Amino acid sequence: MLTGKTIVLGVTGGIAVYKAADLASKLTQAGAVVRVIMTKNALEFVTPLTFEALTSNSVIIDMFDTDAEHRINHIALSEIADVIVIVPATANVMAKITGGLADDMLTTTVLATHAPVIFAPAMHTAMWENPVTRENSAKLVNRGYYIIEPAVGRLASGGLGQGRLPETEVIISHIKMVLGQKGDLAGKRIVVTAGGTHEPIDPVRVISNRSSGKMGYALAEAARDRGAEVTLITTPTALNRPVGIRISEVETAVQMQKEVAKAVIDTHALIMAAAVADYQVAETSVNKIKKERGDLTLKLVHTPDILAEVKGTFLKIGFAAESQDLIANARKKVKNKKLDLVVANDITEEHSGFGADTNKVVLIGKDGMPENLAVMSKRAVADRILDRVVRLLVDQPKA
Ligand SMILES: Cc1cc2nc3c(=O)[nH]c(=O)nc-3n(C[C@H](O)[C@H](O)[C@H](O)COP(=O)(O)O)c2cc1C
Repeated sequence: MLTGKTIVLGVTGGIAVYKAADLASKLTQAGAVVRVIMTKNALEFVTPLTFEALTSNSVIIDMFDTDAEHRINHIALSEIADVIVIVPATANVMAKITGGLADDMLTTTVLATHAPVIFAPAMHTAMWENPVTRENSAKLVNRGYYIIEPAVGRLASGGLGQGRLPETEVIISHIKMVLGQKGDLAGKRIVVTAGGTHEPIDPVRVISNRSSGKMGYALAEAARDRGAEVTLITTPTALNRPVGIRISEVETAVQMQKEVAKAVIDTHALIMAAAVADYQVAETSVNKIKKERGDLTLKLVHTPDILAEVKGTFLKIGFAAESQDLIANARKKVKNKKLDLVVANDITEEHSGFGADTNKVVLIGKDGMPENLAVMSKRAVADRILDRVVRLLVDQPKA
């Protein structure tokens, strides 16, 4: 989704400036046209050559440059930008833009643009916590600018606190989210479940499964990047929390059912990508079960069938992880659970199923016709599923 997008990267004079080079590189690799504007103070930290080499574009610094090669209309970039992102954003640049100053190429471009503007502030904690910076930050948000909260951690200036530039991936997620706001799911609310449930045996042991949560997280991020308001109901996973998504954490099938029931009020689609246990332990032991000489028998009882039991007029999309009779079982699932779409995958196939970064799935709707997708990344699968969701929402808009 970054391909062909013009991203104006404003680089200001903070110690985290070197990380902006990584961002410029990753955005360029992703197919974006990156146009860098540096402040004069940023030049004290790095030379423009770094950005010019990484983006294959000249860097703009001086509004009054008379050198023909660098000469550019002072508002040219403000007009062609799909998004402007200031990384790192100094306390100084935030104050200047809050005050409407336009005394260099970056601030002039921001003042003149209709494109969304994202700030990634990075500074010493004391500067970030200073009431004037807090006030400027709030004013910028009120005016529709986006601020990526600085991370907490070790600061270059010494000490620990809030003020670190967030990781490049976090900044890229924000850029995608902002670019996607007018996407084909704009105004739609989507609930996604992810991960494998944990059914407790005792305070230390659980019954779980091999789901990594990757498919559900990819779906949540893809829906967000297409403009949807997303709620992700997730079990504990090793994945980073996606930005710009409402997260609800659960462990058991029963907890997930409760959260789903709350989340689907007024939703357009529920996508159940989580691997929900079919059975739970009948009586969870309050204390840790001691090792005895003999065998241990656990009585298991059914968990609720969340998808079959959930009520509402929203689209219902289920997953069927099968190791045999894939299509037949998926068709049965569509019918028995009254689903709009089932995403079936054969977990015995290579590059597919739990833990993998790729997936090979078959999409089966109410008509029972299988749409076989090739092996592709889970993110690409997510987008193909959402293509179907978009079409289904046109055919049967939510009341
Ligand atoms: C070594 C050094 C590191 C600095 N790091 C930061 C920083 O991380 N964040 C910040 O807001 N200012 C930082 N400053 C102060 C800014 O460089 C200063 O406010 C400058 O006026 C910013 O100019 P600009 O916003 O036009 O780029 C630092 C200054 C120095 C000398």
